[in-house]
Amino acid sequence: FVAAMEEVEETYIMVKPDGVQRGLVGEIISRFEKKGFKLTGLKLFQCPKDLAEEHYKDLKGKSFFPKLIDYITSGPVVCMAWEGIGVVASARKVIGATNPLNAEPGTIRGDLAVQTGRNVVHGSDSPENGKREIGKISAFLFSFLFSGIGYKNFC
Ligand code: TYD
Repeated sequence: FVAAMEEVEETYIMVKPDGVQRGLVGEIISRFEKKGFKLTGLKLFQCPKDLAEEHYKDLKGKSFFPKLIDYITSGPVVCMAWEGIGVVASARKVIGATNPLNAEPGTIRGDLAVQTGRNVVHGSDSPENGKREIGKISAFLFSFLFSGIGYKNFC
């Protein structure tokens, strides 16, 4: 009996620009739906630089950080909130290892990607980060929605 594993959690899943460009949005959503998780929010949007930097703030000192920010802001992303028991760790398994060449077949990255810098999808690494990431994106989208252009084009 592992009570901690039975908690309903929320995770932030994002189809990165290469995933959107390659037409993999449906495939990626489908894998989480088939697993049995619940989609609780979804939006296609262009991530501004400051939000991308906030999202990846733990990696700020890394050599690949500037390239990562360029990549994430290079085109529209599909951001999603998914809910379920143990969804954070389970979604990471569905996604697979960071380097797609090390990702197992059957995982999203294992089946659909080759390069670490083009690994098609993001998933939160802890329930705390899931809450933080969904909170930051939600706050951004809320302000964007009421900024004028957002409301007209995306509602
Ligand atoms: P990280 O949080 O370590 O991996 P994950 O996405 O699996 O949680 O890194 C975030 C992203 O940074 C990763 O998906 C791709 C990019 N990245 C690189 O471009 N080069 C690297 O060497 C690493 C570790 C990550």
